[in-house]
Amino acid sequence: METAIKDTKSKDSQQAKKGHPSGDQRFKQLDITMKRNQYRQDSLIEVLHKAQETFGYLETNVLTYVARSLKLPLSRVYGVATFYHLFSVKSNVDTAHTCVVCMGTACYVKGGGEVVKALEKELEITVGGTTPDNQISLMAARCMGACGIAPAVVFDGRVAGKQTPETVMEKIKDWQE
Ligand code: FES
Repeated sequence: METAIKDTKSKDSQQAKKGHPSGDQRFKQLDITMKRNQYRQDSLIEVLHKAQETFGYLETNVLTYVARSLKLPLSRVYGVATFYHLFSVKSNVDTAHTCVVCMGTACYVKGGGEVVKALEKELEITVGGTTPDNQISLMAARCMGACGIAPAVVFDGRVAGKQTPETVMEKIKDWQE
């Protein structure tokens, strides 16, 4: 029995070391940080920092990925993430939609700042906020590993490249309908 549990754990960790099955570039950014720290469990806070920078907030699937990679119980990772106020933990059901604008250097110089301004104006909230009807949360991230398609915006977990105030507004209008 014990062997079976160990086997599952090591399988999980091997899978995590191969990268996230979605192929999402943001998980690769996270992999680099974990690898640099040799998947040490005491690097958890640093890894969560990187995750927050890359994703804009910590979602359950990201916390699960970190837990598997560092071979830590999810409850421990979740506990640390919610204990520190600097981390913003969102469950998948908090808001109907999430919009994360990359404000890393490449995205910023290609217009990420204008995209954020347009969204803040339209939604009447600032980055980090949620519309009063709980429909849309607006967040910012640093480099998501998608600099080639800057400026990048993630709508409900899907990365969209070469965004402008006009294209993001179209998406927002879709959500609001
Ligand atoms: S700076 Fe935005 S993806 Fe790299």
